[in-house]
Amino acid sequence: MPKVIEAKNLSFSYRVEPIFTKINFSVYNGDFVAVIGSNGAGKSTLIQLILGELTPSEGYIHLFGQDVSRFKNWPKIGYVPQAGLQSYVSFPATAEEIVTANLFSQIGLMHLPKKKHINKALKALESVGMGEYSKRLIGDLSGGQRQRVMLARVLVSDPKLMILDEPTTGIDFKNVESFYNLLSTLNHKMGITIIMVTHDMERTSNHASRILCLEDGSLMELTGEQITEELLHKHKHPAQNFYKREDL
Ligand SMILES: Nc1ncnc2c1ncn2[C@@H]1O[C@H](COP(=O)(O)OP(=O)(O)OP(=O)(O)O)[C@@H](O)[C@H]1O
Ligand SMILES: [Mg+2]
Repeated sequence: MPKVIEAKNLSFSYRVEPIFTKINFSVYNGDFVAVIGSNGAGKSTLIQLILGELTPSEGYIHLFGQDVSRFKNWPKIGYVPQAGLQSYVSFPATAEEIVTANLFSQIGLMHLPKKKHINKALKALESVGMGEYSKRLIGDLSGGQRQRVMLARVLVSDPKLMILDEPTTGIDFKNVESFYNLLSTLNHKMGITIIMVTHDMERTSNHASRILCLEDGSLMELTGEQITEELLHKHKHPAQNFYKREDL
């Protein structure tokens, strides 16, 4: 099966202490991979290496078979950052404008969007159930609605790979389930490969096809029997412990 991401002997350190050492993993076409690990384990660092924003101290990352430092086809990759939710709150733009802006590579930086671009943005908003909110200011939307707009923003450029860093932070537990259902639909029906950092092990294990665990500088893939209750508990976000099991 074609590899979308391949990491080989990947090491990285910001200073002297390594964040991780000689880790190896592959993400295959059609995968829905969850990356778990404690706070500070290096999950966001790994995402930044995949995006070519950081350079490995050793080893390499290939994206669609090409070294990430030479990779050019970034519109193929949709990235929803960890702080994505907060950074747009005070932005005086509508949902439609935020989604359309991500078509800049098609529109051209100094040009105004044409009708076809706006229609494409509206279609992306509809696909995440936000069609009727297109003219609303992003700051006036709820956390869950805003995160759907962030998804539409990356979907509008027809990504082959979506990279999400804790996308459900700030979304209430009822809407988290529908957000994951939406990701599953994008994965199954549209064939988009997904890699997602999360602390929400309990529900992720129902949606993700594979789980990678980053801990103490190593990365290992968890298989069925390793996804035990104990592990689920360990990687649960502290705030989630306030919800009783029957609430989930
Ligand atoms: N720019 C930086 N310079 C130096 N150290 C950094 C930098 N960014 C992150 N770190 C450190 O690297 C380690 C890994 O950080 P990272 O953000 O990748 O963790 P994480 O697994 O995403 O954590 P969280 O679950 O809290 O988001 C942490 O100890 C962090 O303090
Ligand atoms: Mg992080």
